[in-house]
Amino acid sequence: MSELESEAMEAEFDTVAGWTEEAVRALGPEYAIPAGCRGSGSEGALRWLADRLDLRPDTRLLDSGAGVGGPAGWLAAQRGLRPVCAEPMAAAVRAGRRLFGLPSVVAVSQYLPFADASFDAAWCLGVLCTTSDKAGLLAELRRVLVPGARLGLLVFVADGPLPPPLPEGNEFPSEGELRRLLADAGFRLEASAGADLGDSPEEWTRRADAVEAEVERRHGADPAFGQAQEQSRRVGRLLSDDALRGWLGVAVATGG
Ligand SMILES: C[S@@+](CC[C@H](N)C(=O)[O-])C[C@H]1O[C@@H](n2cnc3c(N)ncnc32)[C@H](O)[C@@H]1O
Repeated sequence: MSELESEAMEAEFDTVAGWTEEAVRALGPEYAIPAGCRGSGSEGALRWLADRLDLRPDTRLLDSGAGVGGPAGWLAAQRGLRPVCAEPMAAAVRAGRRLFGLPSVVAVSQYLPFADASFDAAWCLGVLCTTSDKAGLLAELRRVLVPGARLGLLVFVADGPLPPPLPEGNEFPSEGELRRLLADAGFRLEASAGADLGDSPEEWTRRADAVEAEVERRHGADPAFGQAQEQSRRVGRLLSDDALRGWLGVAVATGG
């Protein structure tokens, strides 16, 4: 195993990322943003965060754990920014760079190849629950942000013990733990809300589904496809049973 905490996560975030790019190429560029939002899922969640990040066209924004780049591509299209993407899975970075033309680097969020205080804002969507080193990730995000910068988060939180089978490699914090981690890393939570991951426009959902179907048509027999499907099925079941919930937050970097 290389960068991530389980083989199933590598199937989901690396192999399927490459396949997603291939399917978008087959279907058309208008499919790229909905298909490239792997975890953030809903346009409503992106808009809720973007509205609270104090963004201007010249804001230097980092998307940490950017995946295939859909959320960063959405920000570029909707708010005229040029986000910088960092993501540990090389196939996802390649896909994001080619689909959205944004500056992108292969890096885990705990070790970012940027100087201190190089960004005015950041977001990190669906990433914190994929690593056990949450404190290290948040400390590194704090390091690369200027004081007063805002950090947007989408985190899947668990209010109690989760019923198996669990998605491999994930560690879901409680909301209390998340709030403590943020404060310890030098962030002041400014706003939070529940994430309704089903509030995208119909056309968005139709395009995301079409890309998924195209990936399945091309690679459905590959064991990595089955592994990735099982991971998202497990997360989906926990969400629909209300054992897990999507949490959105915006926090301000303190100090300086
Ligand atoms: C659920 S996906 C979300 C991707 C993207 N943020 C989005 O919303 O579409 C989680 C992403 O986190 C990445 N990831 C996992 N561990 C990471 C880490 N330690 N640092 C940065 N990214 C990580 C995975 O490779 C994957 O692309």
